[in-house]
Amino acid sequence: DIMNDIMGLSRLQDKIKSKLGIKKVILVPGSFDENESILKDVARCGSEYFLDILKDGDIVSITGGSTMLEFAKSIKTDKKYHNSTVVPARGSMGTDVDTQSNSIVAITSKKLGSNYELLNIPDELDISAMNTLIKVPEIKSTLDYIEKTDILVFSIGRADVMAKRRKLPQDKIEEIMSKNAVGEAFGYYFNRDGEIVYKLNTVGINLETFKNTKETIAIFAGTEKAEAFLSVSNVNKNIVLITDEKSAYKILSLT
Ligand code: G3H
Repeated sequence: DIMNDIMGLSRLQDKIKSKLGIKKVILVPGSFDENESILKDVARCGSEYFLDILKDGDIVSITGGSTMLEFAKSIKTDKKYHNSTVVPARGSMGTDVDTQSNSIVAITSKKLGSNYELLNIPDELDISAMNTLIKVPEIKSTLDYIEKTDILVFSIGRADVMAKRRKLPQDKIEEIMSKNAVGEAFGYYFNRDGEIVYKLNTVGINLETFKNTKETIAIFAGTEKAEAFLSVSNVNKNIVLITDEKSAYKILSLT
């Protein structure tokens, strides 16, 4: 439409970058809402940026979900990263094997020729199980890598969608939603201002590590996730956002 032509993609990128105060914005033309195959373009754009900044020796943490699966599939490089290690930023969730962070780690590390570590535990645990498991050497080793993350690649979840995907009990879902949660990342539920309104007992990356990671790449497609991204962008400004054009306009309309 006219608006797109006037502004152009690169101006739109700059506008969102300065509105949100984040590090960088890279947009893919078009709309995921109208054409879901754009997810692949957004994911590829994400993997190209990732390969641009990746150095051999970096520790890379990645999350799960369908966006991240496309990210991993789209990685294309002839270089080998023998000194890098890829780790899941969180444990396992739900029943879909393909979209588990462990599976996405395996695909990613194969493409990079890197090392990898897995996190073979459920993402959400009760305190006593968690305290026992984090001492298991195999798990502790992965958690140590996560704390030393150089590059984090993650996708955004809507609070309501993620609460259901995590199969939280109805009363918990209602409590979370009554506190105006709009986004979820790494077991934290955030309101639009990026305040934590609810936290699950999850393993994997914590908020401190998230905030201190040198390179953080957020990838999402679809206007439905725009508000969720907005909340996370209020938690951490050191983010490179990769999304589709339509979602970018949606972010602008919300700010
Ligand atoms: O962890 C899940 C992501 O944040 C969102 O998942 O890419 O399948 O929508 P998705």
